[in-house]
Amino acid sequence: MKNNIYSIILLCLFGPLACHSPNERQSDEAVGPGGWLKGDTNEKLDEVAHQLGGFSRTMVEVGYRYSELYWAGQDENWKYADHQIEHIIEAMEDGLKRRPERKASSHEFMEEVLPAMEDLVQKGDKTEFLEGFKSLTASCNHCHNQEGEEFIVIREPEIRTSPVRFR
Ligand code: HEC
Repeated sequence: MKNNIYSIILLCLFGPLACHSPNERQSDEAVGPGGWLKGDTNEKLDEVAHQLGGFSRTMVEVGYRYSELYWAGQDENWKYADHQIEHIIEAMEDGLKRRPERKASSHEFMEEVLPAMEDLVQKGDKTEFLEGFKSLTASCNHCHNQEGEEFIVIREPEIRTSPVRFR
């Protein structure tokens, strides 16, 4: 009896999985019998795609990075500015893969406006950067108009919401 109790204690110390109920163990698994992804492979992939979200999810990220880019320029924190542009490009590329019907309206933004912003960040002149930022904002709104989202109006941020500061 005593031996049995010791074995249970040992098992619980060194084999934590064995002490969880099967449901607990599987609750964070995606695939497998208790996983949250159900159905056949196509249904599972559809669910994963749905979880990734559409263009609105992309835009929430782009909106955040757009604001951070603005404050990075105000701070003359050019490395952080560069970081934000890179991630705007990446978020847009991923979003456009999921929603290729948006691609036609993104051309000027992707091929001209963002590369021009990258050049301004390399240059590191705050006045020129802030001037360029106006074109960036105009380009956001231009696409919103083209895509029938004219009620989503972008303006340069007035207050900081992220905790990132320079020095
Ligand atoms: C390719 C065209 C395109 C460009 C370029 C674009 N947007 Fe958008 N944006 C959209 C579309 C389309 C929606 C609506 C998405 C939806 O509801 O599915 C949107 C929605 C938004 C939203 C609302 C997101 C939400 O659902 O809460 C924000 C914020 C936003 N955009 C910010 C920006 C900013 C900032 C820029 C420029 C840096 C920008 N967008 C550039 C097409 C674009």
